[in-house]
Amino acid sequence: MSAHKGLWITLEGGDGVGKSTQARLLEEWLGAEGRTVVRTREPGGTEVGALIRDIVLHHRGDIAPRAEALLYAADRAHHVATVVQPALDRSEVVVQDRYLDSSVAYQGAGRVLDSAEIRSLSLWGTGGALPDVTILLDLDPAAARTRLDAADKPFDRLEAEKADFHGRVREAFLALATAEPERFLVVDAAQPPAAIAQTIRERVEVALRG
Ligand code: TYD
Repeated sequence: MSAHKGLWITLEGGDGVGKSTQARLLEEWLGAEGRTVVRTREPGGTEVGALIRDIVLHHRGDIAPRAEALLYAADRAHHVATVVQPALDRSEVVVQDRYLDSSVAYQGAGRVLDSAEIRSLSLWGTGGALPDVTILLDLDPAAARTRLDAADKPFDRLEAEKADFHGRVREAFLALATAEPERFLVVDAAQPPAAIAQTIRERVEVALRG
């Protein structure tokens, strides 16, 4: 991707690990620090993306795994081109729920497509864009499921997958973090939200100085 002046932070992890809470806390803290923040997400960070989100999360019946991977990649390509890159060019901080690591973990390990191909597909779509910092919230899928049950919302297509799917997704995320230790910060998401937020801030503070 073209060099940028802003800071691009993504949050990753399985369903129910608390990404949205941490994205909100991070946005609030950055705002208090005087930073202009764009908070966004995939899938669904744009108008086109919202349509794609509806298909991938709520379509009744199967979607062929390669078609699902292409839908996420299409959402991503449009999102980076129209939201993320412009914000970074304006020197803003982008706090983003999920990016291509989710595709590698869910469509790669979860759906058993080739992980390297999934990654290349997204990188092709975005002209090679990678975040400056990726926070991986790591939690045992059984604990995450308890949280989702407590939230009492209907499950979407991915959340409704079986436990072994979510176990593979978790392992895939951890492998990605091991492969790129400079980009990733792995945080134990079983900790209280305030402790998690503090760990994230410390990493982001370093990146802001850098
Ligand atoms: P998310 O917005 O985190 O769901 P929720 O709002 O219910 O917390 O993510 C939606 C789902 O899409 C989630 O189960 C993970 C999945 N997903 C993929 O399978 N591949 C991808 O590339 C992305 C971005 C998400």
